[in-house]
Amino acid sequence: MIELNDVSKTYRIGDEEVKALNHVDLTVEAGAFVGVTGPSGSGKSTLMHIIGCLDTADSGAYRLDGQPIEHYSENELAAIRNRKIGFIFQSFNLIARMTLEENVELPLIYQGVPSHLRKMRVEAALEQVGLADRRKHTPNSISGGQQQRAAIARAVVTEPALILADEPTGNLDSKTGENIIALFHSFNAAGKTIVLITHDDRIARETGRVIRIMDGAIDRIARPDTGTQTQVAETAGQSDPTNAAPNGDHSGAATGNGIDAGEKQPGKRSKR
Ligand SMILES: Nc1ncnc2c1ncn2[C@@H]1O[C@H](COP(=O)(O)OP(=O)(O)O)[C@@H](O)[C@H]1O
Ligand SMILES: [Mg+2]
Repeated sequence: MIELNDVSKTYRIGDEEVKALNHVDLTVEAGAFVGVTGPSGSGKSTLMHIIGCLDTADSGAYRLDGQPIEHYSENELAAIRNRKIGFIFQSFNLIARMTLEENVELPLIYQGVPSHLRKMRVEAALEQVGLADRRKHTPNSISGGQQQRAAIARAVVTEPALILADEPTGNLDSKTGENIIALFHSFNAAGKTIVLITHDDRIARETGRVIRIMDGAIDRIARPDTGTQTQVAETAGQSDPTNAAPNGDHSGAATGNGIDAGEKQPGKRSKR
């Protein structure tokens, strides 16, 4: 689904140059759940902006669904973003004077979806994130966790194939963050490709594959289920053995197992 080849991005402020991305190769298969970690300033958001067609690379190639994106105009890129990608940010980015249902409806208005279909889809999306009963609320009258869930409903209401989340739990306490991550697992189990940027190693470990960025380059790939880490200086492409099996099922299965394990022998234990 995502193929970056030797992608670099440099920012210039005055005579200062920052190499935000430095020869990055990355392939993400459709249906994968990929976690991206790395220290502040390492290039995670820049990577997400390029993957999300919000920004373009200085050099290298990016293919989204096999299409080289450098061939598209600004308008075409905006259409691709709207159709294929759902974005979720640390600061929720909801419009304060609009109700949750109005916020969630916006991307459908941009898509030109007729009004009666919009209502149904907005309701379904709010239902999915557990906010159906809050749909007439404005963002400032609900909790941070609820705001992020509304932002997630807005991201998925267009049924995007790809979900990009930049530190979605960064402003939330860890319990609330866990609930948000559980939502991502349910979307992944339903077939969505997810790229999740996080500072939190515990959250990254819950994804199917972890990519660590250091100084604009991919540092290593860790397979969270085995704990094995492979040195792959700047390479996370097709040669990566963790790519052989799509990771889509892995995370969902792990969550399921965790729940089952706790309920195995409840009867026997309670009699002791
Ligand atoms: N729009 C910008 N203009 C100038 N420098 C930028 C811009 N965006 C990011 N940078 C710089 O690029 C580097 C990578 O930033 P970023 O991708 O935001 O890192 P992260 O998300 O990992 O914290 C940092 O040194 C940052 O200061
Ligand atoms: Mg960032």
